[in-house]
Amino acid sequence: MCGIVGYIGANNAVPTLFEGLQRLEYRGYDSAGVAICGRNGMKIHKQAGRVADLVATAPKRLRGTVGIGHTRWATHGEATTVNAHPHTSGSVAIVHNGVIENAGELRAGVLANVAFATDTDSEVLAHLIAAQDGAALEDAVRAALLMVEGAYGVAVIDQRQPDRIVVARNGSPVLLGVGNGEHFVASDAAALVRYTDQVVYLDDRELAVIHADGFRTFTLDAATTTKQPVTAALTADMTGTSGHDDFMHKEIWEQPEAVHSALRGRVDHRFSTAHLGGIDLVPKDVLTLRRIKVLGCGSAYYAGMVGAQLIEELTRIPADAEAASEFRYRKPVIEADTLYVAVSQSGETYDTLAAVEEIKRKGGRVIGVVNTPGSTISRACESGVYLHAGPEISVASTKTFTSTVVVFALLALYLGRIRDMGPADGARLIGALDTLPGQIAAVLDEESRMIDVAHGLAAAADLFYIGRVRSYHVALEGAQKMKEITYLHAEAYPAAELKHGPLALIGAGTPTVVLAPDDELWDKNMASIAEIQARKGPVVVVTDCRRPVSGAERILVPATEPELQPVLLGVVLQLLAYHVARILGRDIDRPRNLAKSVTVE
Ligand code: F6R
Repeated sequence: MCGIVGYIGANNAVPTLFEGLQRLEYRGYDSAGVAICGRNGMKIHKQAGRVADLVATAPKRLRGTVGIGHTRWATHGEATTVNAHPHTSGSVAIVHNGVIENAGELRAGVLANVAFATDTDSEVLAHLIAAQDGAALEDAVRAALLMVEGAYGVAVIDQRQPDRIVVARNGSPVLLGVGNGEHFVASDAAALVRYTDQVVYLDDRELAVIHADGFRTFTLDAATTTKQPVTAALTADMTGTSGHDDFMHKEIWEQPEAVHSALRGRVDHRFSTAHLGGIDLVPKDVLTLRRIKVLGCGSAYYAGMVGAQLIEELTRIPADAEAASEFRYRKPVIEADTLYVAVSQSGETYDTLAAVEEIKRKGGRVIGVVNTPGSTISRACESGVYLHAGPEISVASTKTFTSTVVVFALLALYLGRIRDMGPADGARLIGALDTLPGQIAAVLDEESRMIDVAHGLAAAADLFYIGRVRSYHVALEGAQKMKEITYLHAEAYPAAELKHGPLALIGAGTPTVVLAPDDELWDKNMASIAEIQARKGPVVVVTDCRRPVSGAERILVPATEPELQPVLLGVVLQLLAYHVARILGRDIDRPRNLAKSVTVE
């Protein structure tokens, strides 16, 4: 979603801002802009479209030692050059992530006499700050923020006070980068990767005033805070495509390593259990647990479904997953003996964060399963388990889906070994986890097979994905991957539900991808295939079973323990979606209308 970058120091800010904006492109955006303070005052340059367009159209003489930049993902007002950030008022320029909820009220009230240039909620902030005439910029920003309701990550400059950038955060991430005689601002450490790994994360309701040679932090109530830089675990290598055509392909191929990283140091072969140092659940707590509720959005939700199933099967603690976006609105009963688990790759998804806050407000216990260290959700949860999958840049989640399932397997192992799971069952799961990276690599080696099948699927306008129990959850994720990067219509159903409605749509032009592991439901899946084929529907079966399936394309995966089979099936579905998207010429890493990190409701 929207991205912020800022620079203050002795060098020209412009190349740093452009590079930072390029590194934030993966978050999803539709326009971009910069504000630069130089010798001749402040210059604004903004543009609908890509950062490359912004760079190409930048005036040659655009330079200055202080600047802020932004990539915008439209919420209030269309994706036009006018609505792109920065927004200005008098000598002030601002960039803003988030939503100002009382913008309408402020426009009609205290700002009634102001002529607005844009349709955005963010412009309100620029006028409120400029209205605090004569104040030091940090005081003006603080006073303005006390008048707004909503979420913000904001960076502000004033051409009359060009020795500072003021930043603030409430519900939308902002961090400072500490350099030598220069400082940076970003909404995501990835933007600064070439300049510094020393970062300071701001907390909600916290501000910072940044100069070339230092910074000061304080709260909205003007109380000074003390912040020490921490090292961001990111390198420039991690944010490149490493010879792959795009990030999605790179990230799909990184999965064997991502699973190794998720497992590293966490498996206890001796006692057939897991060590999860990040969660503070002692055996006594685990014995009192009566339920586990997993919350996440999109692919994190689907991975959570696979995880909840794994936990319930292995620990016999009732577990289910729910869309975090729905959770707080249905007035959930928060139970003291339920363990809530929030899943998020970015750690910044607004709906997931809001669910975490709601649980905490009501006294519930919530842990995180998060990929991004230091992210808002990881800090909001009492404790948690990191995926350690490395940065995921492509909008479509791949390696973090897989790593999330693996972390749930570890959690199930840990909880299960405290509850009823015996050492033999623990060892069975550990054996399967140990061989999983190699098995994923074996699936990846069959990529040419997925390319063949993708050619058949790319001609369809609608696709169905079906599976039962664990495989249904992967079917949801497979259909999601297909929709988001190919723009083909894809629906997932529990296999037995087909005949309760969607079968009416099955015909020669609607292929069905059937996830049919070699388990106790094999015969039932064959019956579903027969129903589809009787309506002339083409079938692709993804399975570890070597028995032939007449009239269907078959993609074979290695056999693993049933609880982990969803991982291998999932990798096939990623590659199918990826290659259909390539065949159709889609912008794979940046699918239309989508953002990597959804920081608004
Ligand atoms: C789909 C996808 C999204 C995210 C969802 C949650 O490929 O990536 O559905 O899974 O927006 O994001 P995180 O995991 O960052 O909370």
